[in-house]
Amino acid sequence: MTLVPFDQLDGFIWYDGAFVPWKDAKLHVISHGLHYGGCVFEGERAYNGKIFKLREHSQRLVDSAHILDMEMPYTTEQIMQYTQETFEKSGFQYAYVRPLAWRGPEQMGISALHTKTHVAIACWEWATYFTSEAWEKGISLKTSKWRKPAANTAPTASKAAGLYMLGTLTKHEAERAGFHDALVLDYRGYVAESSGANLFMVKNGVLNTPIADCFLNGITRQTVIEMAKGMGIKVEEKVIMPDELLTADEIFVTGTAAEITAVSKIDTTTFNVGPISRALKDAYHDFVRA
Ligand SMILES: Cc1ncc(COP(=O)(O)O)c(C=O)c1O
Repeated sequence: MTLVPFDQLDGFIWYDGAFVPWKDAKLHVISHGLHYGGCVFEGERAYNGKIFKLREHSQRLVDSAHILDMEMPYTTEQIMQYTQETFEKSGFQYAYVRPLAWRGPEQMGISALHTKTHVAIACWEWATYFTSEAWEKGISLKTSKWRKPAANTAPTASKAAGLYMLGTLTKHEAERAGFHDALVLDYRGYVAESSGANLFMVKNGVLNTPIADCFLNGITRQTVIEMAKGMGIKVEEKVIMPDELLTADEIFVTGTAAEITAVSKIDTTTFNVGPISRALKDAYHDFVRA
């Protein structure tokens, strides 16, 4: 597989208030965010020339920074404006959009009280998160040995880069075993989510999803809950144990990157891509392009 490194793409990146050529958007190795994990980010998608839920994502970026005790130099409205400008400058109609904010090199050591928060926004073309075959037939998940920490153990409501250390470990574990992604339980042993998407199960026509009390309450998750209710599907947020999950009629994951992707296998148990997953997938496809 030939991979073009992401620092070698063309275009412009919005960086601390100005556009810089893509290849020049660099930071110094002695940056607090790189050493101590002080970095938050967003993942957004644009469809048909419009960024989906731009306000919600921009607000979450600001909230994520505040949860990490990082001062944000911009308001939500400003982040929205700069993200929109970056997207328009790219000329793309369909794109993935990545704003991020990190602590700079102004101070070294655990305390970051005197660092500045730097912000960059980039966007690139990106089709589907999983392969098109997996997209159609569903993905396989392997239960990870890693657990999601409690909300008083890690800043779990923040889309903090540091939390993805765990996501990467779970994804590696799954991919090395021949699975598409990981099923991650939380510190109590409850079903939580995959490495980068929330999880839903359908049982007897009811849509169930774990309570988002120690992982991201995804914007797609919230959209799907609203959409399902609007379609007359009963939705329950509840504790789901792994045993119960394996008795589901249908399972799917949701996220900006993953959109709605059916799950066809967990460890050794297989699942069909059922009618509710298909209906929601179609409805989401239309909704984000509307
Ligand atoms: C760990 C994790 N959970 C859930 C989600 C889904 O969030 P959203 O629907 O806001 O993209 C994401 C993606 O951002 C994620 O990385």
